[in-house]
Amino acid sequence: MGYNKSMNFYETLEKILTTVRPHEKIELFNSFYKAYRAGEIEIENIGSVRCFDKPSYAGFCRIVSPQTVPKRKKFTTDGGKILLLHAIAHIEYSAIDLALDAAYRFRGLPKAYYDDWLEVAEDEVRHFEMIESLLVELGSSYGAVEVHNSLFEASQRTRTLLERMAVVPRYLEANGLDATPEILQKLEKLPQDDMLKRIESTLRIILDEEVGHVLKGNRWFAYACELEKVDKSIYFEIIEKYYPNWPARKKSMNVTARKEAGFSCGELNVIAGEKIC
Ligand SMILES: [Fe+2]
Ligand SMILES: [Fe+2]
Repeated sequence: MGYNKSMNFYETLEKILTTVRPHEKIELFNSFYKAYRAGEIEIENIGSVRCFDKPSYAGFCRIVSPQTVPKRKKFTTDGGKILLLHAIAHIEYSAIDLALDAAYRFRGLPKAYYDDWLEVAEDEVRHFEMIESLLVELGSSYGAVEVHNSLFEASQRTRTLLERMAVVPRYLEANGLDATPEILQKLEKLPQDDMLKRIESTLRIILDEEVGHVLKGNRWFAYACELEKVDKSIYFEIIEKYYPNWPARKKSMNVTARKEAGFSCGELNVIAGEKIC
């Protein structure tokens, strides 16, 4: 399908966001992004911003509370690998919509903002496809396991650029920078088989690219702080508001990746609850 200048940027994003079937959504995104990069789509602020009451995957995934999502254990078995891969596929799939929603919802920003979040969406599509193909090789597929919708909820609750950038890239995705090395460490200790090795190398690619997402979040969080004339320390107030139980002392942190992603030593010390940087 081709796009032309009569195709509106925001309307098309809304269509991609609300497309239920993963492969249809990805195909739509790919042709939209190709046209966008070729300069064929102008960003014209028309149409109202919709709030979504359910995630696009609600059409084919059974949504349960985060506590009742099947727990990943025994990564040496196919069943264990499927649960792990499904959980990651779901995070990546949710992240596609989150990146698209960042571009869709916040309007009138510099073109670089839209460039950044569409580039993130493209990364998330690739991450999803890499993980999904491993899942399919193991005889499963995305949608086969129950999922939670906490990423979607975080995105729909944060309605200002400032809060969105704090919560999604700078909190949720940043937490991923800490969590992925922990998963990798666990996997690397196990007797290695071909699938396990491929899961590990895929996770390393994802980890590496996620640093860039958090860095983009940092950039636009700083931009939003300037717009609102607030100090960057408002980050902690926002996180406290959305996650009142967030760990005041985070046990293990990927300090190198977080610094690369724009966190200051001052911030990392607050998150750790002690001087670590
Ligand atoms: Fe990702
Ligand atoms: Fe990401």
